[in-house]
Amino acid sequence: MLKAKNILIGVTGSIAAYKIPILVRLLRKSGANVQVIMTNSAKDFVTPLTLSTVSNKAVLSQAFKTETGEWNSHIELAEWADLFLLAPLSANSMGKMVNGIADNLLLTTYLSARSEIMYAPAMDLDMYQHPSTKRNIQTLKDWGHIIVEPTEGELASGLCGAGRMEEPENILKRIEDFFEKKSILKAKKVLVSVGPTYEAIDPVRFIGNHSSGKMGFAIAEELANRGAEVYIVSGPVSIITPKNIESRVDVVSADEMYNECINLFPTMDIAIMAAAIADFTPKNIASQKIKKGDKTPTIELKPTKDVLFSLGEIKTDNQTLVGFALETENEIPNAIKKLHKKNLDLIVLNSMNDKGAGFGYSTNQISLIDRNEHPQSFELKSKKEVAIDIIDKIESLL
Ligand code: CTP
Repeated sequence: MLKAKNILIGVTGSIAAYKIPILVRLLRKSGANVQVIMTNSAKDFVTPLTLSTVSNKAVLSQAFKTETGEWNSHIELAEWADLFLLAPLSANSMGKMVNGIADNLLLTTYLSARSEIMYAPAMDLDMYQHPSTKRNIQTLKDWGHIIVEPTEGELASGLCGAGRMEEPENILKRIEDFFEKKSILKAKKVLVSVGPTYEAIDPVRFIGNHSSGKMGFAIAEELANRGAEVYIVSGPVSIITPKNIESRVDVVSADEMYNECINLFPTMDIAIMAAAIADFTPKNIASQKIKKGDKTPTIELKPTKDVLFSLGEIKTDNQTLVGFALETENEIPNAIKKLHKKNLDLIVLNSMNDKGAGFGYSTNQISLIDRNEHPQSFELKSKKEVAIDIIDKIESLL
């Protein structure tokens, strides 16, 4: 299952470190290569000798090999890993990760990581419930790191509650699920349209909307994390392209968005139209800046081409088409109508009525509706987490 996968495990100072040799054995049995990095305080809970024996690799904890002065390159380690698991993750190391503190090999490697990050917090009940821990966990979630939630039970302190690191068998299962998820989208070609469009009125003015592109870019990033080949067509936004994106084309108007998407779509496996494309555009664009005069000017509009509808018309049975709907009333019935009218496989419904959801926010609240018409509603989450929900759903449809 995990044949030849490279798993980097960062062990920090927590009593739960005693479970890591078992996890390493399970991973090795499953075919994975395991490299362990420990903090100094982790060594109070489990010995480097135990971990190097079960992983069959010398355990690393210093930036330099003391005998030879040779460098343990955090960059090479970060590049080697297909997954970086921090387990157990103490409150102390978590706080450092969130604040960019890099005072040991484990943390410098974390800051250089190219792979995805999974973390299994382990701490005492009160520490786990402290607002700083809650805030730090939320930050790591917002960054797209995958949490293996601690379980409830008796803790080393004698207290009872949440804070126990998950058992090695269940962490292994999470790692297997992670790689399975990745394999579904691996090398699938996905078109993602993002951002607003600007419709020119004259050389300096335009009609636009408040789309920031955050949702679409979070989707693109998550797709790339799962191994998809991602093609972004972006309206005017100020977001830098995430890592591992195959291509990005920047457009301005609905017409340009149409041309790019129509050209790309026939070779795509999936298209996700997250862009807030203008429905109307000025009939005539003034060649010079419109001056103030006696009369208030009237701007006559004409409809733009509906990109999603056009993609729905040419979609083949092997392609999956996902659209968005922004509704202010009668939300679910309107979204279902849109799903069928545009021949979609899935529609993501954003409601303008939900506080904290929609344009400009970093959070969003959505419902997902597929052709079975059973809406699945989610709570308010960061756009990064919403992207995960959307892509999990798309994978389930493939
Ligand atoms: N969309 C599109 N081309 C357009 C307008 C919208 O491809 N010219 C796509 C959006 O990317 C989104 C979906 O259509 O995925 C829904 O857009 P929305 O504006 O909510 O719906 P409309 O179909 O335009 O209908 P209405 O405005 O009447 O609700």
